[in-house]
Amino acid sequence: MCGIVAYVGPKQAYPILINGLKKLEYRGYDSAGIALLNSSLNVYKTKGKVSELENFVKDVDLRGTIGIAHTRWATHGEPNQANAHPHYSQSREIALIHNGIIENYGLLRKELETRGYTFQSTTDTEVLTNLIEDIKNNEHVSLFDAVRIALNQVIGAYAIVVISYDDPDTLIAARKGSPLVIGIGKDDYYVASDATPIIEYTKNVVYLDDEEVALIQRSSDLKIKTIRNQEKTPYVQQLEMNLTALEKGGYEHFMLKEIYEQPFSIKDSMRGRLHTELGTVSLGGIVDFEPKILAASRIIIVACGTSWHAGLVGEYLFEDLARIPVEVEYASEFRYRNPVINESDVVIAISQSGETADTLAAIELAKSKGATILGICNVVGSSIARATHGGSYTHAGPEIGVASTKAFTAQVTLLTLMALRMASLKGTLSRTRYMQILHALELIPEKVAQTLILSKKTVYEVAEKFKDVRNFLYLGRGYNFPVALEGALKLKEISYIHAEGYPAAEMKHGPIALIDEDMPVVFIATNKGTYDKVVSNIQEVKARKGQVIAIVTEGDTIVKGMADYIIEIPETEEMLVPLLATIPLQKLSYHIAVMRGCNVDQPRNLAKSVTVE
Ligand code: AGP
Repeated sequence: MCGIVAYVGPKQAYPILINGLKKLEYRGYDSAGIALLNSSLNVYKTKGKVSELENFVKDVDLRGTIGIAHTRWATHGEPNQANAHPHYSQSREIALIHNGIIENYGLLRKELETRGYTFQSTTDTEVLTNLIEDIKNNEHVSLFDAVRIALNQVIGAYAIVVISYDDPDTLIAARKGSPLVIGIGKDDYYVASDATPIIEYTKNVVYLDDEEVALIQRSSDLKIKTIRNQEKTPYVQQLEMNLTALEKGGYEHFMLKEIYEQPFSIKDSMRGRLHTELGTVSLGGIVDFEPKILAASRIIIVACGTSWHAGLVGEYLFEDLARIPVEVEYASEFRYRNPVINESDVVIAISQSGETADTLAAIELAKSKGATILGICNVVGSSIARATHGGSYTHAGPEIGVASTKAFTAQVTLLTLMALRMASLKGTLSRTRYMQILHALELIPEKVAQTLILSKKTVYEVAEKFKDVRNFLYLGRGYNFPVALEGALKLKEISYIHAEGYPAAEMKHGPIALIDEDMPVVFIATNKGTYDKVVSNIQEVKARKGQVIAIVTEGDTIVKGMADYIIEIPETEEMLVPLLATIPLQKLSYHIAVMRGCNVDQPRNLAKSVTVE
């Protein structure tokens, strides 16, 4: 939530900042702003997207070699110009951008008001800006120390960058709970919420840790202290990200590109881990924790949204293949419901961004109770990756579209590998069966590519037919139940059509009341597991004149005879079907959203990484 970019060096800051904001716009896009320091400290900000900010500043003097910029996802105060960042301090000598929430801002604001401060916005961020100014003036300390001291008074989460008229060569950056990366160029510095705006300038980066404050000065070495004034040595890492991964590469939207990348991203998730010729699975990041997993009384999976759906597939996989009991928890519920957690528990946190606030909080809670925490993250160096004891990266590459697609299939791939590894250690599968699944998994990238081709025409026809409906129902059983949930989530988040996912057999306990000739019902009715039962559920819908769209295994004849639309996917093992069946559902939502004129990559009210509760 919210994108932060800052620059100091010999180059003009504006082009770097505005391009950086465009790369970070997926994090929030309800207002945007920029502060540039030349002979004065100028803040320009406006409601709306980065393109509106560009338009807003087209006639102003944008010179300056130091600046900060922000794209916002509103938490405190509606998305308008006054609440947009950067925020000036009262004297207009300091400007600040912020990602996160200052929970005690009300109290701090009251105190500042008694000291004569007035506020132009309803944000928590303006409170922090004035708090820093107040400390700087009254305690006669440097800007760096003023920021540090102010952050000791703050409760909540923050990634901030501060700029001051008095200090034209300095940026101060700090983080707690929200990500911040500092890029170290030849003779300049870049700061951003993630590495995407930095990669084209430098591969040397420092990820700030919680409660660290960085002093970033033109022509000086980077200095870092904790908010309690303890010196830290900056740890410089090399970015491995590829610049082309951040471009649309000829596709109309990032989401479409990411859907089509899945044959490759799934392969990347398996690379060096699946060794069919040896009959082994190896996951370097969890190998040290295998005895713990084997001895665990259960695995608890914590995640949110799409990652939670991947976790549900994980539950089926671990229980079915490795016979390890699993509980899948919404991180937001888990963290507040006083759960029973023991030292023998293994918690797996799943997150694309690695920054989701609820998932991070769930990890901290489980850690405090002595559980072993493993992570499945896509973003390398992210907060969740660093907060866990071990784990594996999904290696799906940067996912820019707000609706998660390739991250989901990569998460499911990793969970499959983990479950297979545990199954082989526990001996819960016969060697023959284990090898059959390994071989089938190896073929999945190719079958995803086939699915993309096979489903193309019908998915488009279905989208055209149902693009104007108000409701959709998605039904599946067993491994396909989480697929139904994920299909429904994809549709609602990008097309704003109300959609529900259900286990197919639950339909008769309520949702069946919704079925009439206007109700499209998507069935995931592939040929394994509870296929016969799902066929009966389809009949129940047809008997009530519902419109059936069925995802079936290639060559199916039974469902073909009943459904209104058939979308075929290649044959595979039952536990691998989610990796294929999800693909046409992603495409269906994509086409419907485009046909309805929705902003596919930046759906309303959403942000890619949810760094607030
Ligand atoms: C997915 O399409 C959503 N945008 C959302 O549900 C997302 O999966 C959720 O916010 C969790 O994010 P994470 O994987 O980065 O933790």
